Amino acid sequence: MADEIERIQTGIRGFDSFVEGGFPKGSITLVVGTPGTGKSIFVAETLFNNALKGKKCLYLNLEQGEGKLEKQIRQFGWDLEKAGKNLRIVSVDFPNPGMVEFVLEEVQRLDYDMIAIDSLDSISSSPLETDEVGKMGMDRIAETVIPTLFDAQTVGRLKLKKIFAAISRSRATAFLTTERIEGAQGITRDTISEFLCDNILVLYYMGVGSSQYRTAQIIKMRLSNHEKEFIPFEITKKGIEIRAEK
Ligand SMILES: Nc1ncnc2c1ncn2[C@@H]1O[C@H](COP(=O)(O)OP(=O)(O)O)[C@@H](O)[C@H]1O
Ligand SMILES: [Mg+2]
Repeated sequence: MADEIERIQTGIRGFDSFVEGGFPKGSITLVVGTPGTGKSIFVAETLFNNALKGKKCLYLNLEQGEGKLEKQIRQFGWDLEKAGKNLRIVSVDFPNPGMVEFVLEEVQRLDYDMIAIDSLDSISSSPLETDEVGKMGMDRIAETVIPTLFDAQTVGRLKLKKIFAAISRSRATAFLTTERIEGAQGITRDTISEFLCDNILVLYYMGVGSSQYRTAQIIKMRLSNHEKEFIPFEITKKGIEIRAEK
């Protein structure tokens, strides 16, 4: 049977053929990796390429300071003017207690086709809002987690659940980054987003001296007969380039 799933191409040179042409429209992809593995670049390139095609894209930059992402984008020669209003980049470079509300507001502001949040860790580890859990009411708490102790990690998970729910409601195709700690067990630090997402893309960087070696691996992708092996890639002066053929 033909593939009837509508797919969103990343436009990243050589990548889409490894995932049956793209990520399923409306799916949520977690982009995981240790620092410097290319998460922000992968996501920015995907949104930029789609903005050029007329898709309305939101990139919530919660990690790099104001202007830094734009600088990286320009360095690759991607013309932000061409993307115009289709690529809205919003930067917040300090964790603040109103982070969840801020993100929810931005996500719901427009009928976006694509949303990126870079990174989820900035949300789950943002300072606690003392009344945050209180505002939810017992029914909401009961349906989200087992209400035991509200330690920081539990509250972090509650925040992420809210964010995932809002993104699902928006029907946008989403890319959320999360930082992995070298050698840590499990996929994510928060231990919940890996279950809430539809797809997981892990980026690796193994560099010894001048010989750098980057690979990507899709470890989960709903509705797709995706590549299972490691996919080698490089970050060149033009952005991400896949170094394998499918
Ligand atoms: N112009 C460039 N040429 C080659 N590699 C680059 C260039 N710009 C950035 N990089 C590589 O990309 C890395 C940063 O990628 P990034 O997506 O910000 O990582 P992450 O978001 O996973 O922390 C840098 O550490 C560097 O190795
Ligand atoms: Mg980053």
